[in-house]
Amino acid sequence: MKTRIIGTGSCLPENVVTNDDLSKIMDTSDEWISSRTGIRERHLAKEETTASMSTEAARRALENAGVTAKEIDLIILGTVTADHVTPSCACEVQAALGADRAVAFDINAACSGFMFALNIANAYLQAGFYKTALVLGAETLSKIMDWNDRSTCVLFGDGAGAVVVRADENSGLLAFDQGSDGSRGGVLACENRTNNNPLVDTSKDLAYIQMDGQEVYKFAVTAVPSSLQKTIVAAGLTVEDIDYFALHQANIRILQSVAKRLHVSADKFPISLDHCGNISAASVPILLDEMNRKGMLKPGMKIAMSGFGGGLTWASAVVEW
Ligand code: ACO
Repeated sequence: MKTRIIGTGSCLPENVVTNDDLSKIMDTSDEWISSRTGIRERHLAKEETTASMSTEAARRALENAGVTAKEIDLIILGTVTADHVTPSCACEVQAALGADRAVAFDINAACSGFMFALNIANAYLQAGFYKTALVLGAETLSKIMDWNDRSTCVLFGDGAGAVVVRADENSGLLAFDQGSDGSRGGVLACENRTNNNPLVDTSKDLAYIQMDGQEVYKFAVTAVPSSLQKTIVAAGLTVEDIDYFALHQANIRILQSVAKRLHVSADKFPISLDHCGNISAASVPILLDEMNRKGMLKPGMKIAMSGFGGGLTWASAVVEW
């Protein structure tokens, strides 16, 4: 039995903010941002929330799969920007969809969140506990950006992506790999709410994302090719057998370097970061949905996916479409 992706959906906020728009409110330029990252614009939430975008992405994925909300057994949502500490975003999605049979929970694996969620869903389906699952990655990263820090705020965007997966005897997820290195967590970090009990000093300001960009770059270009290689071999395939590499959309230079290290053409790495920026856990399912809706994904194709980022964490999977 394999875990097959049978539908995809995504949702981006209505408001588009270009690099030129940013250059009007901070000391930056389209040339600096696009040449270093490949990002030209991003969608930033105004009315939208992590839960509202997730719900819309889920509705579109269910429609694409031809599955009703009542058929969902399990909802797993990767995010670092849920609207509430509790209820989880997954539970909010469950309520909004009326998926009342489902077990729902969030997971935090930063930019690897969707891939970790997919691998967890795969384990449940393989074990025979559930048959149909909704797996999401969703973020409102603009709320944890320091808009006075041009080195980070220009990189990120908001949005949500979803897939419906089902246990299938024929095609589906062939292999996966995942890992974590908590000892290097400080290179990409965002503090949570601090303790405010009567015993502690409560004078700390709200914390925002902080990143050592060069260390993240070095991590990504070594961990990702190695994880992809391992997964492709475990699937009984070679790099040449892979039709597309659907990777976390952090930075065009990371994608080009991974392609070079794997000795495959960069044309096999579809891009959404140019119009979405980096949306952490949401970037892989949004990319997959764009590929699906463009008709790029044909039955039998082999797709390698990989997420990587905060934690540090990384996760890859190879699926037969
Ligand atoms: N506009 C204009 N200038 C800027 C900006 C900006 N938005 N941001 C920084 N600069 C300036 C800096 O102040 C610095 O100026 P100085 O030389 O006068 O001091 C100069 O540009 C170079 O700054 P660096 O931080 O050294 O820039 P670098 O060349 O390393 O590029 C980048 C930064 C694009 C983030 C790069 O480190 C990178 O690609 N990192 C990969 C990590 C990544 O993509 N992270 C995304 C999130 S993590 C994830 O999803 C896995």
